[in-house]
Amino acid sequence: MIKIFKLKNIISIKDFEKEDIDYILDEASKLENIAKSREVSEELKGKILGLMFFEPSTRTRMSFETSMKRLNGECIGFESSGSSSVSKGESIADTAKMFEGYCDALVIRHELEGVSKFISDIVDVPVINAGDGAGQHPTQTLLDLYTIRKVIGKIDDLKIALVGDLKFGRTVHSLSNALGLYKNVKIYLVSPPELKMPEEVLHDINKTNITWEEVDSIEKIIDDVDVLYVTRIQKERFADIEDYMKIKGAYIINKKMLEGKDLIVMHPLPRIDEIDTDVDNTKYNKYFTQAANAVPVRMAILKTLIKNNPK
Ligand code: CP
Repeated sequence: MIKIFKLKNIISIKDFEKEDIDYILDEASKLENIAKSREVSEELKGKILGLMFFEPSTRTRMSFETSMKRLNGECIGFESSGSSSVSKGESIADTAKMFEGYCDALVIRHELEGVSKFISDIVDVPVINAGDGAGQHPTQTLLDLYTIRKVIGKIDDLKIALVGDLKFGRTVHSLSNALGLYKNVKIYLVSPPELKMPEEVLHDINKTNITWEEVDSIEKIIDDVDVLYVTRIQKERFADIEDYMKIKGAYIINKKMLEGKDLIVMHPLPRIDEIDTDVDNTKYNKYFTQAANAVPVRMAILKTLIKNNPK
């Protein structure tokens, strides 16, 4: 049977069925050779991707740009509100309409939840949410799942600890939603009390077969998990910096804690101090692999959306 990918926009991982995720992960596997060998295919020759980054990014912006270039397409865009006419008072809607006139697809990052959805409602080209506030980061989740599947060989039957800022961390919100599509997954939620997983995400998880448990220390679960998915405390989302200072450095993973364990360590990055650099040269470190996997996964996303939705 020929598989098809039904979505025009990638706004929330909650819009995905398991077959949609499988489609992107399988396409990414096929494109990985091009990404790894630093080659260029002709798949998106002549196409232009618009990068509208109102909020800072290293990995997401650069990997989308790399992915487009590996498919022989090109990118235009801005990396902060200050370098676009938004700084002169132009609305997001007008800015998006300009990009629609120039590009074949748009990638949006914004500090407010819902901005990508708003833009997808007013333009005809595919829109990809590259992170909206504390909301969703669906393409990060696709590369997280790709990494887990590639390194461990499966996504079903795993125990995964989500560690750190579960309140503001959009990557753990998206990942939790996606894991609900897999069989026999247990999630441990490890966070300071102030940064617990939001009720609405727990509500979504409760509609799936996931079992979950909140715990207050890594030591309690480290012998039981297949994946430690660590996140940074999101300083920029605290209204009061004093509140951030009180919980900064609450969870720090180091090499000694991991010795003898049968697990991998993932992190969407950037990291601050939550994974000691002594983990970098161990077998546990899969966070740099994870970041590199962004290229084949985002190549698969761009190829699929742009080819399925020609202007
Ligand atoms: N993982 C991630 O979204 O990183 P950036 O903020 O650097 O894009």
